[in-house]
Amino acid sequence: MSRLQLIHSPASPFVRKVRVTLAETEQVADVDLVRVHTTALSTADEAAAANPLGKIPALVRPDGPAIYDSRVICRYLVARAGADLYPEDRLWDVLTIEATADGILESAVLMVYEKRLRPEEIVFGDWLESQWGKVAGALDALNDRWMSHLHGPLDMGQIAVGCALGYLDFRHDDRNWRNGRDALAAWYDDFAQRESMVTTFPSD
Ligand code: BEZ
Repeated sequence: MSRLQLIHSPASPFVRKVRVTLAETEQVADVDLVRVHTTALSTADEAAAANPLGKIPALVRPDGPAIYDSRVICRYLVARAGADLYPEDRLWDVLTIEATADGILESAVLMVYEKRLRPEEIVFGDWLESQWGKVAGALDALNDRWMSHLHGPLDMGQIAVGCALGYLDFRHDDRNWRNGRDALAAWYDDFAQRESMVTTFPSD
């Protein structure tokens, strides 16, 4: 095996971060996509073989151990391409924005699992609202504090935020995340038009 292999599912927003990064750094042709069906309750063999946590995305490399999670993979791919998506002069801003977007995703995915995997009569409503509270707080922070950064040159913070907002549209449309966040909504409407975003739109 001499090529990279991305263990992936087209619904995962963390996988999408990696795929958008591949597209933006012109490395799509270097990677084979290995589609798995994995859930929090049952781990696909390929995911378990590549990542002891059994989570996706994982990137299998010909010249070293498989790497995970999305933050590590994205950083590896950016370095591999010699791209400038983690610019030194605003590195801490980029990493904080990426962490904010990933935090949105962690809560948003937990909400999906709560509703999908738990029997309906024991779905924990207060817990769902608490997770949404984290999402809402992070969206407010992006809308109120980080818009000038989001409008700057492309970086990993923007890619992560784009994937987080795309996932909210995909799985939590009923929450109307755009309400009261006009600046972020307008930014996303533009960002979502990028070819890297259009070609990686999530599906089941
Ligand atoms: C989803 O179906 O929403 C999903 C799939 C994989 C990872 C995270 C979320």
